[in-house]
Amino acid sequence: MHDNATASVPQETGALIDHFLTNCHEMHRADLASRVPPAERVEQVHADDPDATKGLARALTRLAREMEDHMVKEEMILIPVLRSGGGAGIEHPIAVMRVDHDDHAETITLIRKLTGDLTPPETACGSWPSLYGGTATLPDEPADHIAQENNVLLSRLKPAR
Ligand SMILES: [Fe+2]
Ligand SMILES: [Fe+2]
Repeated sequence: MHDNATASVPQETGALIDHFLTNCHEMHRADLASRVPPAERVEQVHADDPDATKGLARALTRLAREMEDHMVKEEMILIPVLRSGGGAGIEHPIAVMRVDHDDHAETITLIRKLTGDLTPPETACGSWPSLYGGTATLPDEPADHIAQENNVLLSRLKPAR
C-alpha cells in the first residue's frame, strides 16, 4: 500500500463515493480484464520453461471475479445506504465487505508470490518485462482501494439510531 493511500481521497462523502466509483471500480474492471489475455499468452508460449511463472492468469482471473462480485455488492447495497446517511443493520454488510477485502488481499499476495513480486525470470524474453511492466500497478491499486474503503468509507458508516 502507498503511504498516502488514505491521505489523498476526498473527505466529503458524495465526492468520496464518486472517487471510488470512477477512479477505483471502473479502473479495476478495465485493468483486470486487460491483464488476463497477455498473461495467458505468455504462460502458453513459455509452458515448457521451468523458470516461467505458472498460474498468474488464473490468479488474475480470480481477483477480477472476486472484485467484480464485491464491487457490485458495494454499488447495490452499501453505496445507496451511505448516500442516504446510514441504515439499521448495516453492520452485517460492512462485515461482509471487510471479509471480501481480506480475500482480495490474499489473492494479491498470491500474485506477488507467483511472480516473485513481479520480477521477470533471469532468462526471460521481452514478453515478461512487458507483461510485468503492464501489471506493475495492479497489486498496489486494489490494495490502496481496500485501505481507503476500510479506513475512510466503512469506518464512516453507522447504523441509524
Ligand atoms: Fe470498492
Ligand atoms: Fe471494497
